[in-house]
Amino acid sequence: MTSTPTATDDRSIPAAEPTTIGLDDAIAIAHSLPLADKVALLTGAGTWTLTALPELGLRTITVSDGPIGVRGTGEDGLASAQMPAPSATAATWDERLQADLGRLMAAEARRKGVDVVLAPVVNLQRSPVGGRHFECLAEDPLLTGRLAVAFIDALQARGVAGCVKHFLGNETETDRTEYLSRIDERTLREVYLAPFEAVVDAGVWTIMAAYNAIAVEGVEETATANRPLLTGLLKDDLGFDGVVISDWLATKHTEESANAGLDLVMPGPLGPWGAALVAAVEDGRVAESVIDDKVARIVRLAERVGALSGLAGEVLPFDRAGATADPAADEVTALLREAAARSTVVLRNQGALLPIAVDGEDAPSRIALIGHNAVEPFTQGGGSAFVTAPHVSLPIDALRAAFPSAEVELHRGGATTRTAPLVPATIVTTPEGEPGIRIDHLDADGAVIGTYVLPDAEALWFPIDDARVASVRLRTDLVLDGAGRHVIEVGPVGAHRVEVDGEVRGESAEHVGREVILNSSYANPPMIATAIEVTDASPASRAVRVEADLQVIDGESYGRFVRVHFRYRAPGLTVEEEIAQAVAAAAAADVAVVVVGTNPETESEGWDRPTLALPAHQDDLVRRVLAANPRTVVVVNAGAPVILPWLDEAPAVLWWWLPGQEAGASLAAVLTGAIEPSGRLPWTLPASEADVPVPDGIPVDGAITYAEGVHVGHRGWDRLERTPAREFGYGLGYAEWTYADARVKLGASDRLGASDPLGASTDSVFATLHVTVRNTGARPGREVVQAYLSAPEPGADRPVRWLAGFAVVDLEPGVQAEVSIPIARRAFEVWDAEHHDWDLPRGSYTLRVGRSSRDLRLATSVVVEDE
Ligand code: BGC
Repeated sequence: MTSTPTATDDRSIPAAEPTTIGLDDAIAIAHSLPLADKVALLTGAGTWTLTALPELGLRTITVSDGPIGVRGTGEDGLASAQMPAPSATAATWDERLQADLGRLMAAEARRKGVDVVLAPVVNLQRSPVGGRHFECLAEDPLLTGRLAVAFIDALQARGVAGCVKHFLGNETETDRTEYLSRIDERTLREVYLAPFEAVVDAGVWTIMAAYNAIAVEGVEETATANRPLLTGLLKDDLGFDGVVISDWLATKHTEESANAGLDLVMPGPLGPWGAALVAAVEDGRVAESVIDDKVARIVRLAERVGALSGLAGEVLPFDRAGATADPAADEVTALLREAAARSTVVLRNQGALLPIAVDGEDAPSRIALIGHNAVEPFTQGGGSAFVTAPHVSLPIDALRAAFPSAEVELHRGGATTRTAPLVPATIVTTPEGEPGIRIDHLDADGAVIGTYVLPDAEALWFPIDDARVASVRLRTDLVLDGAGRHVIEVGPVGAHRVEVDGEVRGESAEHVGREVILNSSYANPPMIATAIEVTDASPASRAVRVEADLQVIDGESYGRFVRVHFRYRAPGLTVEEEIAQAVAAAAAADVAVVVVGTNPETESEGWDRPTLALPAHQDDLVRRVLAANPRTVVVVNAGAPVILPWLDEAPAVLWWWLPGQEAGASLAAVLTGAIEPSGRLPWTLPASEADVPVPDGIPVDGAITYAEGVHVGHRGWDRLERTPAREFGYGLGYAEWTYADARVKLGASDRLGASDPLGASTDSVFATLHVTVRNTGARPGREVVQAYLSAPEPGADRPVRWLAGFAVVDLEPGVQAEVSIPIARRAFEVWDAEHHDWDLPRGSYTLRVGRSSRDLRLATSVVVEDE
C-alpha cells in the first residue's frame, strides 16, 4: 500500500544525505503521505503488529498482552516470566515492588521484540464475581491508580509502552461486547475514571478502548465510538497525547469511531477502517485533519518506543538492550518468589502456628500436604493474560526442600475440576500405529489434502493457513490399561461429529466464529464424555478409537483455526477414598497444609462466576482435615474472593492468590517465614454471598447500572454496615504493631485555606499525616499504614470513609519510626455534576490511620476553610 520513495518524491528526504529528523518533521512527512497510506497506519498489520512505514523509517510496532507477563506474538516459542496476578501484587500495596515488576515486564518485552505491553488493567473489582477480577489490581480507585502509576513509570522509563485498559466501565464479562455501562457523572469522575486519570497524568503512551458501551454526557455509545469519552474526557479534558487502541475486534463502526477519537483498530489487517475510512474522508464524513491527528499520535508512539529511526528511509532494527536473558534466571525467580510471598495475606494465625520451624524441637517431622491445588497449583487465570511459564515451582518440591528433616506427603484429596486431565502422550497411537494423534485436513468435498501427527493433546489449537481446508479430522487410538472405569472426554469448539469406537457420541452442525474468542468459550467448551468399564476379565489393555470431525473457525484477524479439548481419566480412587486417605495422612502428621482454591474452570476472562463457593467438595475436605489435625494451615489459591465458611475454625489461613511460576517457592518461604507474608487485602472478603453489596454484573435489558454510585467495594460495606469475613486492607503479617502520635502538617497550622497554593493542583500534597508506628512483635515485619478520610458532614452522598493515602514501612522488632503519608488535594474533593467541575467542600475532615479499613487506631482532623 505504501509506495517506494524516489529522489523526486517530496515525501522522502534524499537518501544520499540522511538527515536526523525530529518528531515534528516526522509527523509533517507522515501528514504529506497519500490518504490511503495514512489510513493504512491506523489498522494493525496483523494480530499483534502495526503497519510499518519504511519511507519514514518507521518499523513495525509489536504489541502483546499483559498483565501477567509478556506473552509475545506466539511465533517465537519462548516461555514468559509468569508473575503473580495483579490482584496479588496489589496486596503488597508496595509501589517499589510494582516498579520492579514494571522493569521485569520491560525486560521481557525487549527479549520478545515487544514495544507495547497491554497492561495494566485499572478497571475496578466492582463485584467479586467479575471474571477478570484477578487481572484488576483492587476495588479501590486510589490504590489502583497509585500502583498502576508505579508500574507504568518503570515500564516506560525503559522505552516500552504501557497500554492501560479497558477504558471505561468494563467491570463485567457477561455479554461483554454488548452491554451499556451507566455510571453517573460524579461516580465516573471520582471512582472509575480516577485510576485512568492518574495513569494519564503520569504520561501513559497508549490506552485501550473497551468492548462495552458507556453513557457519557447523555451519549450512549460503544467505547470505541464514544466521542464524549475519547475526545471530550480523555483527550481534551485529561490531555492524553498517546494512542487510543481498540480492544481486539471491538470496533464496530467506521466514521463514528474515527470521529470519536479512536486512533488504532486492532487487530488487523481486516476491520471497519481501511478502504471504508478512505471513502469516508473522500466524501467528507471524516475530516482529513482527524486522520492526521491519529497519524501524529502513532508516529509519536513510534518515537517513544524507538521504532522511528529519525533517519528517513532507514529502518532501525528492534533494540533488544535491557532484555532479560532468561525468564528462569535467578534474579527473575527471586523477584517473582518475593512478589508472591509478599502478596500473601495472613487471614488468621491462632497461637502463632505460623511460621513453622524448620529445625529444632518445634520443627515438624511429618507434614501432610493436601489438595488438588497443592498437586496442581492454579498459577494464573484464563484468557488473554495467559502466558506460558518456563517452569512452575510445585509446592511438594519446595516444601521438601524447605523442610529437609521432615517427611512431606502429598495427597490430592479428590479432584475438584469437572473435566479430566489432558490425554497424555503415552496412551495415544495413530490408526497406523505411530505414537500420537493423526490430523487430516479435508477440503470442502471431504477429500484429504494434508496429514500430520501431533504428539499429545497439549497443542489441539492449530492455525489453518491453507484456505482450501474446510474441516479437520482427528483420529487416534487410546490404549486403556488396567481394569476399572476409563473416561474419555472430547470438547470440540464449533460444528463437530465425535465417534468413539464407531459410535456417534456427539454431533452439531452449528458453526461458530470469532465470538468463541471474545467470550472465551473456546477455553471451556462442553465435554462429550464416554465412560468405558474395563473388567479384570478383559485383556490387559485395549485400544479405543476416537474420531472427531471439526470445523475450521474463522477468527477474522485472529486467523483461521481449529480447537478441540481432549481429556482422559484413568481408573483410580473415588473422591471419597482420596479424602479418606488425605484425612488419615493429616491425622498422622505434625502439621497439615491444605491448599484449596479455584481452577481454570472458575476464573477467566470471558465469563463471570456464578457462585463464590469453592469448587467441589473443598469445604468438606478442610473441615475433615481440621477435625483430624488441630495444627492445620489452610492456604487459599484464588485470585478473587471465595466464601470460606470454616475461616474462623482453622488455626491458620493464608490467602495465596494466583501466585505465578514461583508458586511453590513462595509458599515455602511464607510457611517457614523466610519471607514475611505482608499482604493486605486490596478488596473485601465476604462472609456470605448474601452480604455482597454488588452481587453480580448481569446486564438488565442490555445495561449495567452502577447504582451504588461512589460506594464501591469497602465503601459499600461500610455504608450498608455489613460485616465481611475480612475487611479491605486486612492482613496480619508475622509482626505486631502499635500506633502513636498521629498529627497532620499543613505547613504552619492545622487549617488549610481552600485556595492555599499548597493545594493548588489536583495531585499536589494537601496535607501530610505523620504517625509513629512500632513493631512490638518478635520478628522483623512490614506494616502497611493506611489513612482514611471522613467528610465534615457525612451524608448519603459521601462514603463513610475513603482511602486517602498509605505507606509501607519495614521495621526490626522493638523499633519504631515516624511514617509520613502525603494526602493529595483530590482526596478531599468531590465532583460537582451540576457545574461539571471539582469542588472542595469546607469543614473539618476526620483523618484516621490504622492497620485496615476497620482497624483504625488513631484519628486527627484537617480543617479546610475559606481564606
Ligand atoms: C482483551 C484485552 C486483550 C486483547 C488482546 C481482548 O479480548 O479484552 O484485554 O488485551 O484481547 O489479547
